[in-house]
Order: sequence, then structure tokens, then C-alpha cells
Amino acid sequence: MSLVGIDKLKVNNFRSYKALELAFDSIPTVVYGKNGVGKTNLLEAISLLYPGKGIRRSSFQDMINKTDNYPWKVEAICRATNNLFELETSSDGKGRVVKIDGKKVPQNNLSSNMKIIWFLPPMDRIWMETSRDRRKFLDRMVFSIDIKHAKRCAQYEKLLRNRNRMLKDRVEDSSWYLSIEKEMAILGFEIDNCRRNFIEKLNTVLTEKNNYFPLIKLSLKDDPIENKEVFFENLISQRGKDLAYGKTNCGPHTNDLQGFYLEKEIDTKYCSTGEQKLSIISIILSNAKLIKEQHKISPILLLDEITAHLDEVRKENLFSELVSLESQFFISGTEVSIFNSLSTKAKFLELDESQKFVA
Ligand SMILES: Nc1ncnc2c1ncn2[C@@H]1O[C@H](COP(=O)(O)OP(=O)(O)OP(=O)(O)O)[C@@H](O)[C@H]1O
Ligand SMILES: [Mg+2]
Repeated sequence: MSLVGIDKLKVNNFRSYKALELAFDSIPTVVYGKNGVGKTNLLEAISLLYPGKGIRRSSFQDMINKTDNYPWKVEAICRATNNLFELETSSDGKGRVVKIDGKKVPQNNLSSNMKIIWFLPPMDRIWMETSRDRRKFLDRMVFSIDIKHAKRCAQYEKLLRNRNRMLKDRVEDSSWYLSIEKEMAILGFEIDNCRRNFIEKLNTVLTEKNNYFPLIKLSLKDDPIENKEVFFENLISQRGKDLAYGKTNCGPHTNDLQGFYLEKEIDTKYCSTGEQKLSIISIILSNAKLIKEQHKISPILLLDEITAHLDEVRKENLFSELVSLESQFFISGTEVSIFNSLSTKAKFLELDESQKFVA
């Protein structure tokens, strides 16, 4: 098992931070302070040490500190067991540059040594949000296990946009569609298949007797895509209908993630607000366990205000689960007292308006 963690972090011109330097020594960190002091911004900076657009999925332009508009940069010294490596990522608002040990690399390389997963308050409501939000949530988890998944999804989305554009423009000549549909069929089948494989693996962890958090069973709403040939035929036969609607009506982009709360035998969307939150915590903890099992890497967890609305017992259970994961985690909240029971296990970092930290 590779125990991965961030030892040091340097942030420049990022959101509310002009310059910030912190040392974590790869141990869990409690980040606390009043509203608006920069807790989520700090977690967002850390999330950029992983491929993608970070926890808020904002544009790189929005991340630039507004006072003088210089490019932002996040640098970290990380540890994987006893090896140290340096990560650096920066952006002038357009794309972003990634360097590992000083060498420019594609951003996907960020996921080869380190895995980062997160919880943000809006995720509480994932079962009430759109199917698109749930697909994104699922695809990010699939990516944590299978790093080719993000590229597959991006390529499929591009083909889908091209096909939809032709449908909208009422292009009827079949020859314009066939090559796009053939590629969509290959990728669409793979996406569906990888999502299902992931859900099957996650369900084995999620439905294991677990003392603290609810047992959840995940599934996809639509029937599986049998194979790429069947999906290809489907795209061709549905084209007439798609032309009438001006968009592609079948494929992995219309599927939806469903949850079943086993103890109550109901769909998670009918659960109470607290139960919905517990179901998401269960899923995130199981995702972390699955990463450890499949990749032999302890993932880093970024947990923004995760204790909000948890009763005292549930909150303490969460802390025990997190500590037993033996992963580095960053957990934020407005009051330090919430985290009293972590006092001997974590580093405490107070942020204040001057954005100097007090450890
Ligand atoms: N690009 C930016 N440039 C400068 N400041 C920014 C930028 N983006 C956000 N901010 C500011 O950063 C501040 C801190 O935001 P952040 O969301 O990190 O606070 P927080 O500590 O998580 O607060 P809360 O407890 O309310 O969640 C906010 O006042 C926000 O206006
Ligand atoms: Mg916040």
C-alpha cells in the first residue's frame, strides 16, 4: 500500500490568496475559520493537483486572484511511501500547465501517483439534481479507478455535439452520419460497460455490513448496451426520430444513476435530507476503500463542511471511519469545536481574514 500525502503546499494568485505556504506533513488537516476566509478556496487549490477543473468545476479564469490578474499557480511536495515528488500546475486563465518533478506532462499524469476524491455541500442534494449531475458524479468515480474513462467521455461528448448539430441543421444525407455513429457506438458501449463494472465493484463495498453508514445499492436506469454493433444499429434506426427532436435520444448520455437505501428499501431520492447525505458519505467512503483495494494507493480526501447536519453520533462515526482509512484528509468547518475528537490525530489550521494561518 502506497501511503500518499501532501507534505507542503504553495499557492500563488489563486482566488483570495496572493501567496500562501503551508506544511501538512502528510497527516489529516482540519481547516477552520469564519465564513469567507478561504477554506473552500484552499481545498479547491489542492483539488487542482488532480486532473480536471477542480472541486467547483469553475473556469481557470475565475480562479485568478482578481486584484492584479496574474496567472495562478499551485505547487506541492508530495510523498508516496518514502518517495518525494513535486507537482506544479498553473494557468493564465486559458488552459493549464502541469509539471511533475519540473517536467511538463499531460494533466492526466497527475492521477498516476495520487488520487483525490471530494465532498462538497451541494453533493448532499445529488439525488434531487439533474441526471447530468449524477452522471458527472458517477463518471468522476469511475475515473478514480479507470483513468481512461475521462478521455472516453470527452471524445463521446464531442461526437455527440457534432451529431446533434447535424440533426438541428436537418442534415438528412446518411453518409454524413455513419462515421460519427460508428465511433459513438464504440465509445458509448465502452462508457456504459465501464460504468457498470465500476458500479458492480462499488456495490460489493457499499453493501458490506458496515456498522456506521447506510448500505446503498447503486444501479443505472437504462438496460445495458449489449455491444457496439447493437448501439450502432440503434443510432441508425433512431435517426429519423432524432431528426424530429433535433437531438440524440439514446445512449450513455441519457442514462441515470439510481441509489437504493437497503435498510428502508426505498429509492434514495425519497430519503430524508439527512439520509441522503449519509448515502453520499457511504458512497465516498466506499470509493476511497475501492481505490485502496484496486490501486494500492491511499486516496486524499477533501471534505468541505461535511459535518453540517450530522448528529453528534454520526459525526463521530465519520471521524472514526476517516481515521481508519489511513488516508490523508482535509476537513473544513467554521467552528473548531466540531473537531475536538480529532485533536490528537490531525493538524489544525485556522484561517483568518489576513489569510495567515495559525497551526
Ligand atoms: N478569483 C477570486 N479573486 C479574489 N477573491 C476571490 C476569488 N474567488 C473567490 N474569492 C473570494 O474568496 C473568499 C473566500 O471564499 P471561500 O469560498 O473559500 O470561503 P469559505 O471560507 O469556504 O467560506 P464559507 O464558510 O462561507 O464556505 C470569498 O470572499 C470570495 O469572494
Ligand atoms: Mg466554503
